[in-house]
Amino acid sequence: MTESNVNKIKNSFLKDAENVKDLKSLEQVRVKYLGRKGELTAILRSLKNLPIQERRRVAPKAQQLKKELEETITKKQKELSTFNFQHSVLSIDVTKPGHKIKIGHIHPLSKIEEEIRHVFLSMNFSVVEGPEIENEYYNFDALNIPKDHPARDGWNTFWLKAQTDAEQTQRAAEKIPRNSASSPRKSALLLRTHTSPMQIHYMKNHQPPFQIIVPGRVFRYEATDASHETTFSQMEGLMVGKDVSLANFKFIIEHFLKKLFGSEIEFELRPSYYPFTEPSVDVYMKWRGKWLEVAGAGMVHPKVFEAVGYNPYEWQGFAFGFGLNRLAMIKYKIPDIRLFYNGDLRFIRQF
Ligand code: PHE
Repeated sequence: MTESNVNKIKNSFLKDAENVKDLKSLEQVRVKYLGRKGELTAILRSLKNLPIQERRRVAPKAQQLKKELEETITKKQKELSTFNFQHSVLSIDVTKPGHKIKIGHIHPLSKIEEEIRHVFLSMNFSVVEGPEIENEYYNFDALNIPKDHPARDGWNTFWLKAQTDAEQTQRAAEKIPRNSASSPRKSALLLRTHTSPMQIHYMKNHQPPFQIIVPGRVFRYEATDASHETTFSQMEGLMVGKDVSLANFKFIIEHFLKKLFGSEIEFELRPSYYPFTEPSVDVYMKWRGKWLEVAGAGMVHPKVFEAVGYNPYEWQGFAFGFGLNRLAMIKYKIPDIRLFYNGDLRFIRQF
């Protein structure tokens, strides 16, 4: 009885296999016979209940059939997948336009920084960068903004938590250098509120004459709105020599603004106040009928030269600080400063 079952299964399997047209129905056939509840599986399982004589007769046949079925299925599988492959290759329409490849976008801040670098490099300026974590000495004291000076209120500061003694010992053991060897000890850490501390770093390590620009991110502890962000970018400039004057500054800034925005733009220097420059000015630019402030600037204050060990009777120079976001907003018509860092792809894809 079981033996005839084996034959029956074989015949019905061959018929089923014949009709299979795709991999999915092949799988259904496999499950029907060889699956956990499959017909042949049931027979193989029931072998152990047969009397020994019959089992000896039927078992090899059932095993043989299992092998046959498996082989047939594998063969069919191969046939069907090459068939599918040929079918899909033949259906390619080579005259169809290709898929558009998605490419990345340059962030508007990187873009404007790149343009500005070019303009200043063409005037023989060097580009240098500095740390975003500073200490009080570089960010304030050396720039003639002593502790308790009301001018500090102009830069709402993110102060960093002081290191514990244990952390300091650990750092020393790992030979991690201090922020700078020449900085006074115990100067509180902060996120730089402007790029001006790089004036100090640079002058402590270089002798004039020189001219540099310093692009970089700065941080202020402020409420945000369309024109204020806690993180934004600046571009510091510093030129020091024997007879560098405010007139030189005016020439350079005019060349720069005209390169960036076109030769029709108008600009003005208006009196201002910064503790690290004397006299101090703000640069205003006329854009679509409106005067916009784009930079703070001035002649480097003698106290700043003294802090870095320069003789203020021998050297003079100008410094300036542009808001890069502001320049990018004007140039690329960006209405809200918060768009720069919110990561919205709809914004970035426009550049
Ligand atoms: N550091 C100033 C600020 O962030 C700008 C500035 C730079 C002014 C250099 C004068 C000279 O507001």
